[in-house]
Amino acid sequence: MNITSLPALTVVVPTYQERDNIRPMVALLEAALAGIAWEVVFVDDDSPDGTAKEVRAVAREKPYVRVHHRIGSRGLAGACIEGILSSVAPLVAVIDADLQHDERLLPKMLAALQADPTLDVVIGSRNVEDGSAGSGLSALRKWGSDRANGLARKILKISATDPMSGYFMVRRTSFNEVVLNLQQQGFKILADMLSASKGRWKVLELPYTFRERQYGESKLDSAVTFEFLGLLMSRLTGGVLPIRFILFVLVGLSGLFVQLIVVKLALATLTSSFALAQTLGVFVAMTTNFILNNLLTYRDRSLKGMEFLRGLLSFYGVCAIGAVANVGVAESAFRVVPSVVLASAAGALIGALWNFWASLLVTWRAR
Ligand code: GDD
Ligand code: MN
Repeated sequence: MNITSLPALTVVVPTYQERDNIRPMVALLEAALAGIAWEVVFVDDDSPDGTAKEVRAVAREKPYVRVHHRIGSRGLAGACIEGILSSVAPLVAVIDADLQHDERLLPKMLAALQADPTLDVVIGSRNVEDGSAGSGLSALRKWGSDRANGLARKILKISATDPMSGYFMVRRTSFNEVVLNLQQQGFKILADMLSASKGRWKVLELPYTFRERQYGESKLDSAVTFEFLGLLMSRLTGGVLPIRFILFVLVGLSGLFVQLIVVKLALATLTSSFALAQTLGVFVAMTTNFILNNLLTYRDRSLKGMEFLRGLLSFYGVCAIGAVANVGVAESAFRVVPSVVLASAAGALIGALWNFWASLLVTWRAR
């Protein structure tokens, strides 16, 4: 059979552990998009529950259902970007798989973009008049989400009321303008796109009511907030420093505190030898740095079990070389510019860069 009409709309649905939502989701899309040439692509990060297999089963029955199966990468933003890039349609929507976003908004989004060629993106928004967070968000989540929203809008210079929304429809030509500037890491692809568009995009927000999740569970945890902080700081550097490097440095700073506290404690209780206390402090700090980086900075490729141990040892090795580089650079710098602060900072900078790149390549290398 030939598929004769090209889609006017591609619906991108990122999925991780959403097997039981696939069929209900397709049924809802079919009802909402009747009469429109559309297709849906599920971008699955090799979910252990067999989501991709389920999508394939549905796709064999329905030619407008596609699967984009990623192996060895995790992350919502990256999945959305790949899904959008896999489409030939002039308009592309992104919607969650868990039925929390009201799919009946899609035809209105489509009509708005088709009616106004200067419009770049339509956001399904929980914050504009009539829209509501419904009962789908806990009170605490709602509070945190509102705070993050305000901060993000200020820093990213975004005027949309709900830039954190995971529900939007974008014009492919507009997306192409910003895609090279987007970050793969993180949850907030819309906020990143709006920021990358530097306020040039014409944005329309349409209200809807956020629904309760029925099957499966949310993948948004507190680590996502930390990742988001990374996105904000990355944007403050104009995107020069990637999210991951910023998270790595933040964890490194926490390690500095850990080290100071351990040295103090050790000197007060364990030993009178500063060298011994310092050695202990360095080891504890390296260990907490490793654990935090594994949980936060590299949450998309967290090491577990034996891998965790192997990773910890390689991280000690990487940091040891980093420390030698740190001291070497600081010494040379001090000979050129005799300022303790500048020389020490130069050493720390080179040490941090080394630790970051080396641990990226050795400890948390992508599979
Ligand atoms: N491919 C892929 N890879 N998909 C993912 C990943 C991943 O690593 N993590 C989550 N997803 C998919 C989920 O399967 C779901 O379809 C969608 O992304 C949203 O994930 P949820 O875990 O349901 O997020 P949420 O409901 O807590 O958060 C929603 O609301 C937020 C605003 O409060 C999302 O729409 C967020 O984008 C939004 O910011
Ligand atoms: Mn959800």
